[in-house]
Amino acid sequence: ANQTGMADQITKNPHAIFIPLPLQGHLIPSVHLAVKLASKGFTITFINTESVHHSITNSSSSSNLFEEACKSGLDIRYATVSDGLPVEFDRSLNHDQFMECLFHVFSAHVDKLVGSLVKDDPSIGCLIADSFCVWPLMISKKYKLVNISFWTEPALVLNLYHHLDLLKKNGHYDPLDKFDDAIDYIPGVGSGSIKPTDLMSYLQATNTNTILHRIIHKALFQNTKSADIIICNTIQELEPYTISTLNQTQPFYAIGPIFPNDFTKELVSTSLWCELDCTRWLDNKPPGSVLYVSFGSYAHTSKHVLEEIACGLLQSEVSFVWVLRPDLVSSTDTNALPVGFEDQVKDQGLIVPWCNQKAVISHQSVGGFLTHCGWNSILESIWCGVPMICLPLLTDQFTNRKLVVDDWKIGINLCEKNLVDREEVTKKVKELMMQEKSNELRTEVKKVKRTLQDALATGGSSHRNLDHFVSQVILKTN
Ligand code: UDX
Repeated sequence: ANQTGMADQITKNPHAIFIPLPLQGHLIPSVHLAVKLASKGFTITFINTESVHHSITNSSSSSNLFEEACKSGLDIRYATVSDGLPVEFDRSLNHDQFMECLFHVFSAHVDKLVGSLVKDDPSIGCLIADSFCVWPLMISKKYKLVNISFWTEPALVLNLYHHLDLLKKNGHYDPLDKFDDAIDYIPGVGSGSIKPTDLMSYLQATNTNTILHRIIHKALFQNTKSADIIICNTIQELEPYTISTLNQTQPFYAIGPIFPNDFTKELVSTSLWCELDCTRWLDNKPPGSVLYVSFGSYAHTSKHVLEEIACGLLQSEVSFVWVLRPDLVSSTDTNALPVGFEDQVKDQGLIVPWCNQKAVISHQSVGGFLTHCGWNSILESIWCGVPMICLPLLTDQFTNRKLVVDDWKIGINLCEKNLVDREEVTKKVKELMMQEKSNELRTEVKKVKRTLQDALATGGSSHRNLDHFVSQVILKTN
């Protein structure tokens, strides 16, 4: 019995509680990471908010999210917790209230739930939480769990958040009053320096006394710095200098891109909204001829910007699929498009409220992506060898744009200083889809795509880093 006991101890696989941030762009890589870890032998208890659970089950008509994954032999358990607001509450329209609840009420609910899970199952040894959560340090200490922080954005962005004190000392944060001089004193910035306008939008804000700034200070400046391990949805070869700098202070593993095994077929539903199928429409278009346009799941823009984009697209005569989320324009005006636009577009464009982006972008007719530069969208675009036109709107998207356009040269800017103008839209769309620049971008994006493929292949950096991460967790939890 002793021997069996010892053998059990040596091979004991970790049991992790996994809590994503309840936002679409954070949920997607979290679900795929949970599945990846379960396929490496982890037991995962995945916790969604009731609101996210409600949205996913509504859009997929599946009540048991991980059923397919469990059928294929993975040990993924599932629980939900309230974020403190009624399920039907409009979180997009009342964003600050939602954030306040995530800060206070959600933390208290998570604390209670983790307490009861740990009490019932002593095999639980670690907590994996999105780095934007404010409570992981407190909860992991309280329940003696290994604290693993999951960073869903580029390493460069986390590295900048970790240096808020330096930015402040140099007049580049709180308040940002030096717009012209490059920031060249932060260790680990791949290109040596970064322009103030390429900082994350929260750092460029004039009012830093907001709930989001409190979250950033608590979660990113304090909490993640105390995590036992950070795992990140990036690729070692794309951000080598930044990653080695982060690694000097903490174990930091680049394990991206975190996609489902079959890029277009997900074992677990992750979409918060119903997906419109664009395949038939795309099937009728020549290879590489369609521009995909999407501004992600979260950011808002103005009716004016959408009008300029709409007219610019029309003038370009390039075919397009455009995801127009109903809440994209943050006003009560639900029809954000110019009057008569849909009639004029005819078969040139397909406008949908939400789609399966991976299916669209991997379709052979798609040859370009006009994107807000969300990190998932960038990785998906690279994976499909599709170059980008960039229009960052919020948060990390400004910094991600720098990586795409200035550092990796796989995209172009839509406009200078984010002043969107229809003539410029037409010009850039043609440049991306048809002209000489298009070939240069396609050559470069293929090279970066190869970097991603190599990283995930057996023996590649992300493959090795994931294995190393798993063995570290086994060590720490046994
Ligand atoms: C924000 C941040 O900007 C991003 O960098 C961070 O990692 C997550 O939160 P978000 O607006 O959600 O981004 O954009 P993005 O990161 O691109 O994620 C959107 C996800 O939704 C992608 O995985 C995309 O495939 C999916 N999507 C988008 C759809 O499935 N259908 C759509 O119609 C649009």
